[in-house]
Amino acid sequence: MNKEVKWMSESLWKKIAIWVTSLMLLILVALTFDTVSQITEGTSRVPDYSVINNKIFYEYDKKRDILAPVIGELSPLFGKELDKSEAKELVNLGKLTIQAKNCMNCHTILGNGAYYAPDLTKAWLDKGWGSESVRETLMLSFLLDPETNARSFGTNRKMPNLGMSEEEARGVIAYLKWMSSIDTNGFPAHFESIEQDKESK
Ligand code: HEC
Repeated sequence: MNKEVKWMSESLWKKIAIWVTSLMLLILVALTFDTVSQITEGTSRVPDYSVINNKIFYEYDKKRDILAPVIGELSPLFGKELDKSEAKELVNLGKLTIQAKNCMNCHTILGNGAYYAPDLTKAWLDKGWGSESVRETLMLSFLLDPETNARSFGTNRKMPNLGMSEEEARGVIAYLKWMSSIDTNGFPAHFESIEQDKESK
């Protein structure tokens, strides 16, 4: 058999197709395991929900050339420290509210959604909230009545009132705070953090 004929053989190409497909399948499985370990709550990039008890701020990471999240001292949301299961319950209420009210129709969360309204991934640290001391109160009144308590997030658009209960709005804020602690490799780009209180970190 000469070389040309060997390379044209059907069975050889069948074998190559089977090998390539099997290899890709293995790589896909390995990547899936790798991804799951990086997106699960309570892992190095995604802190567990009790992080809402702490101050979250961003520092420039020289090596990666991005702003990376740092979890600081105790700074409980609404001044009340929650244990792990209470924190999980509150963040979960926020997640369900965000899904039920379809916030992603207008906003983007962790890369999913629309760009009609600001990206919410780091909304907890948005400069639009003025300062850290008034942020929680302003967020709560904004979410409960965004038409009256509109702030300017630079879109020149208005958010409609979505009829949230106060508990749901608190859950949403907990969710936004937790989400801001996730290390997203610098996403969204060019994000600027709210002014930090000088004395504390
Ligand atoms: C119909 C579109 C629409 C929907 C749905 C919507 N929003 Fe908004 N939202 C907006 C717009 C527009 C703004 C920007 C207002 C401004 O620039 O003054 C905004 C602003 C915000 C902000 C402030 C942005 C920042 O950078 O901090 C938060 C927080 C927010 N929305 C949360 C939510 C949540 C939570 C939901 C779902 C419960 C939701 N929005 C649903 C349109 C929407």
